[in-house]
Amino acid sequence: MNFLRFSDLCAQGQARGRRVFIRADLNVPQDDQGRITEDTRIRACLPCIRMALDAGAAVMVSSHLGRPTEGHLTAADSLAPVAQRLGQLLERPVRLQAHWLEGVEVEAGDLVLLENCRAHPGEKKNDETLSRRMAALCDIYVNDAFGTAHRAEATTHGMARFAPIACAGPLLAAEIDALSRALSQPRRPLVAIVGGSKVSTKLSLLHNLADKVDRLIVGGGIANTFMKAAGLPIGKSLAEPDLVDQARSVMAAMKARGAEVPIPSDVVVVKALAADAPASLKPASEVADDDLILDIGPHTTARLADLLKTAGTIVWNGPVGVFEYPAFSQGTAGIARAIAGSNAFSIAGGGDTLAAIAQFGIEKEVGYISTGGGAFLEVLEGKLLPAFDILQKRAAG
Ligand code: 3PG
Repeated sequence: MNFLRFSDLCAQGQARGRRVFIRADLNVPQDDQGRITEDTRIRACLPCIRMALDAGAAVMVSSHLGRPTEGHLTAADSLAPVAQRLGQLLERPVRLQAHWLEGVEVEAGDLVLLENCRAHPGEKKNDETLSRRMAALCDIYVNDAFGTAHRAEATTHGMARFAPIACAGPLLAAEIDALSRALSQPRRPLVAIVGGSKVSTKLSLLHNLADKVDRLIVGGGIANTFMKAAGLPIGKSLAEPDLVDQARSVMAAMKARGAEVPIPSDVVVVKALAADAPASLKPASEVADDDLILDIGPHTTARLADLLKTAGTIVWNGPVGVFEYPAFSQGTAGIARAIAGSNAFSIAGGGDTLAAIAQFGIEKEVGYISTGGGAFLEVLEGKLLPAFDILQKRAAG
């Protein structure tokens, strides 16, 4: 993918004294008092901000936070807690400017955070007039918000159309590079793990991957629907009977290419969903009518681990069991260990997957951990994200 990189502009001295607008994704989780409960996204945008400051730019940063009603910014929508956390991390005070469409005063080498961009009427609809007004604030527009790259909004798309220069920040560039490496020219075999509760939420993703990957490992409720499609009993397990035909068509598409969807051969079942419910291990063919499948068994885990150890590239989205409970965590733990022990280039994304990576302590062994949730899924679905699209178009002139 061809796009302009902010790092190149900085290295060429093009950012010195320029007004740089960074669209970051600082949409962090908060508790009822507005305290930030997890700051990965704020940390992830630090390299871009430091790059701009070191390059001698006058730096403006903005992001959305939550989904405010346009034109009605409440205290709960304010980026104030983000400004404070950013200031702690950068070890310098970060000024927060509430109204910024009329103009922003910021000196070279200085930084200002611009209040929640989604509060502006027209932001979500990618309004052209608003986009032009925002773009007029800067000389260089930098998109570093991968988490919001699937939204065509004024600050993620419109500004990139109208700013004098539009480029990708280091985080967005790293995400594009990692995703291209995994999906465009992967070292084979390419193995995808798609877990989660419902086939319906990942249907287009499964169909898209069925055309690309050599092995498609399904997990969680998704695997139950595939087991049913393969003629196995699944008892009372979470599944979508309406989508059994879709699961069959994914398996058929894979088979036609000489690729495979490995179906679990043993599973961990309970009679009721509870952390302390007595769990038993069964061959997949012997699941009873009143059983709930909550994890894969050791034979399946070992087989999948072998596939992962010999993979060239691994894409991971979604756990294969209810890993939050120790009794049902062995499958996901085994997958995590196999990824950690594999020489494959691995990329992982999605909230549950990141939680599993943290739980099993394999952060350092995963090739790239994506900051995107919905954006990561849309790339796996084969979509060209609006933020990527416009940066490519601008680079092409
Ligand atoms: C996210 O948290 O997934 C991104 O920040 C996008 O937020 P949105 O779904 O409100 O557009």
